[in-house]
Amino acid sequence: MKFFLDSAITDEIRYALDMWDIDGVTTNPRHVQASGKPFMRVIQEIGEMFAGTDKTVSVQTNPHKHNDYQAIVEEGRKLAKLSPNFVIKMPCTEGGYKACKVLKAEGIRSNLTLCFSAAQGLQAMRMGAHYVSPFVGWKEGNGEDTDQFIEDLVSIRENFDYETQILVAAVRNGRQIAFAAAVGADIVTASFDVFKESFLHPYTDLGLGRFQGFWDKTPYE
Ligand code: E4P
Repeated sequence: MKFFLDSAITDEIRYALDMWDIDGVTTNPRHVQASGKPFMRVIQEIGEMFAGTDKTVSVQTNPHKHNDYQAIVEEGRKLAKLSPNFVIKMPCTEGGYKACKVLKAEGIRSNLTLCFSAAQGLQAMRMGAHYVSPFVGWKEGNGEDTDQFIEDLVSIRENFDYETQILVAAVRNGRQIAFAAAVGADIVTASFDVFKESFLHPYTDLGLGRFQGFWDKTPYE
């Protein structure tokens, strides 16, 4: 199971690499805007942080061009030249699927984002996506089930031996992380705060307090 950080903030990425040994990064227009830096500058900075590793950085193409596959392909080629670590992100739209197939034939890896149904995920797998990103947090926010959704994607991938990795995205809590791992998804991507919280438990803190009390009342030698 791999952990990706969902962020374009270089300080967060540096910390997550050092402390949590993250396996990659996913970015989107919201994260890039939050970095306060121009798009090209920040993605190149992130690319440099991963140079010489086999970890990936997902970089999103212009969402206005979501159905113009040639525009997505052109932008994908340009971005892929900047770093061998880059995986090109495009949406689960007709244009996105087609662009994924064209880029795949050229050896450029794609991450099919904004996936909200198993049928969308199946098409991403058929078209040779390197990653497909089901957005669990958004669906749950809309009152929809996501456990069956992720299980279906894992089953579809196994039924047909597709090579696409299931990258569970918009993860909001530790339960979603553990569920994704338990049913065989390949990767989760979550924000800095969600990962940090997921490594904690109030009973761990309670237990530490208790043990410290006993420790302090016991001679060491
Ligand atoms: C995934 O690749 C997306 O960047 C991300 O998970 C989107 O969701 P969020 O920004 O609402 O967390």
